[in-house]
Amino acid sequence: MTDTSDDSFETLLEYIEDELGFATSYYNDSYLDRRVSSRMRRTTADSYADYLAELRSSPQEQDDLLDSMSINVTGFFRNPDVWDGIRDIMRTAAENHERVHIWSAACADGREPYSLSMLAHDDPEIDASGVHILGTDISEKALETARKGVYQSSQTVDIADQLEYLTDYHDYVDETANGFRVRDTIRQNVRFVRHDLINDEPKAGFDLVVCRNLFIYIDNEYKEPVLETIARSLQSDGYLVIGKAETIPPSLTCAFSVLDGRLRIYEREPLDSRRPVQG
Ligand SMILES: C[S@@+](CC[C@H](N)C(=O)[O-])C[C@H]1O[C@@H](n2cnc3c(N)ncnc32)[C@H](O)[C@@H]1O
Repeated sequence: MTDTSDDSFETLLEYIEDELGFATSYYNDSYLDRRVSSRMRRTTADSYADYLAELRSSPQEQDDLLDSMSINVTGFFRNPDVWDGIRDIMRTAAENHERVHIWSAACADGREPYSLSMLAHDDPEIDASGVHILGTDISEKALETARKGVYQSSQTVDIADQLEYLTDYHDYVDETANGFRVRDTIRQNVRFVRHDLINDEPKAGFDLVVCRNLFIYIDNEYKEPVLETIARSLQSDGYLVIGKAETIPPSLTCAFSVLDGRLRIYEREPLDSRRPVQG
């Protein structure tokens, strides 16, 4: 890792934001440095200034860097214990509402919203026909994959293993040469739309928002606007699930009460009962 306090790192980030259109200012420096350093190791550049020169002259390197900047690691039923908590929320929501609206915000390539749909179909206490899932992400490329619903296993990712959370995953996917295609019965509950959680308007009427593994990458000052957007998008009795390694900033804890601290499951506090921020 090179020293990021030096001006050339800032100059490089400005170039990436202004010329390549990736909003580096939203993300924390250590994340950005890991991505840049990993690209630098594949070139002859041994300083940020050298790498900037390489980037300016190579459209291929520009594409490769942008690709590596997008944080799209995901999986079906990621952190299975959290999915037990999500199942409980879905049951409660299905009991209380004829139609259940769920938003998988920052859904990457769609495996999270499809997991929600599969769970709705798999659970005998949930009427899947009333469950409507919206998957959104800032990345059009990720959404393209999501809409296709086809996933390959690789040396490091075993899709069948991820789907083992279900009673019998063969009910929900068809096998392809080295992966799976999500069946139409599962796809019909899910719709995908591009949405930028930092800049776009809130949505409305959701019973559950699942927004996992985005906060670990974004800069602290952007966590609040994202959580405000989510709070405004939830019904007054709605729930929020964030990533297992993530936290809600203290200034916003009044918008949510903790339902399960270990699983990072929160319930929205009604707007009028929110207390002013202390301190
Ligand atoms: C690590 S993935 C998380 C995927 C999934 N939620 C999970 O936990 O498995 C983070 C996703 O956040 C998306 N993202 C980054 N910035 C975003 C923003 N401002 N608004 C919406 N999505 C964003 C990325 O494109 C990426 O697909």
